[in-house]
Amino acid sequence: MTQLSVNLNKFALIRNSRGINVPDLFEITKRCINFGAQGITLHPRPDERHAKFTDLPIISNIVNQNTNVEFNIEGYPSPKFIKEVISIKPHQVTLVPDPPEALTSSFGWDCTKHKSLLIDVVRNFQQNNIRVSLFINPSIETLQNLSEILPERIELYTFDYAKEFQMNQESAIKNYLKVVDFIQTNIPSISFNAGHDLNLNNLEFFLKSIPIIKEVSIGHAIICDAMEFGLEKTLEKYLAITKKN
Ligand code: PXP
Repeated sequence: MTQLSVNLNKFALIRNSRGINVPDLFEITKRCINFGAQGITLHPRPDERHAKFTDLPIISNIVNQNTNVEFNIEGYPSPKFIKEVISIKPHQVTLVPDPPEALTSSFGWDCTKHKSLLIDVVRNFQQNNIRVSLFINPSIETLQNLSEILPERIELYTFDYAKEFQMNQESAIKNYLKVVDFIQTNIPSISFNAGHDLNLNNLEFFLKSIPIIKEVSIGHAIICDAMEFGLEKTLEKYLAITKKN
C-alpha cells in the first residue's frame, strides 16, 4: 500500500504569519495521525518561513509515539540542515537541490553535477541510520551517477505530471514510466516516492500507472481541500485513493 505523508509546511506558514501559535502545528500533527496519515513531512527552509528547526524535535516525538507513522524531513543539505537532521534521526530525509530563497522545490538533483556532494551526504545520513530519498526530475539524463550515489529511495518530482495531466494523462505519465523502468533495471535496490502538486484529481491515475510507489508526500492540495471538506474528511478522501494501491 502507498503511504500518505502529510506535508505540514503550509500550516506552519499560516501560523508564522501572525506570530502566535495558531494553528497549533503539534495538534495538527496529532490530528493527521489520528485521521490515518502514515507519515508527516516538514521542510525547514533556511529562512524558517514555514517549518522552524525548533518544530522538528517536538514533531519527531509526537510521530515516534505511533509505531506505524514515519517522520520525513525534506531540505537542502546545508551544514545546519545535516546537523539538525542527524540529531533528530527521522525515519527518512528527502534531499532537494533548491536554493535558500526558492518559493518551493522546483527541480530535482542533477546526479552528474552534484555527484560528489551527494555521495558524501547520502553516506553520512545512512551511517546515522536515516533512510535517504533524493528528489529527482522525470529525466533519465539527470540520473547517470545514481548507482554510485545509491540512496534507498528517490522521490519523483510530479509537477510536470500534474501540469500535463489536465491535457493528456498518457503523455503526462510517459517520462515517469521511463525513469521507473530505468531505475528498476539498473539499480533495483532503489524504491520510489512521489510528490509535488498531487491532488484528488490526479493522484489515482499516477498510482494506478506506477503502483510500486511507497509514499506520496502531499501538502498544498491537502490544506486547500481541508478548507472545503475539513481535515478529517480530506484525509479520508486521499487515503481512499492510496489504500486502493
Ligand atoms: N516533495 C517535495 C520535495 C516538496 O518540496 C514539496 C513541497 O514542499 C512536496 C513534496 C509537496 O508538494 P505539494 O505541497 O505541492 O503537495
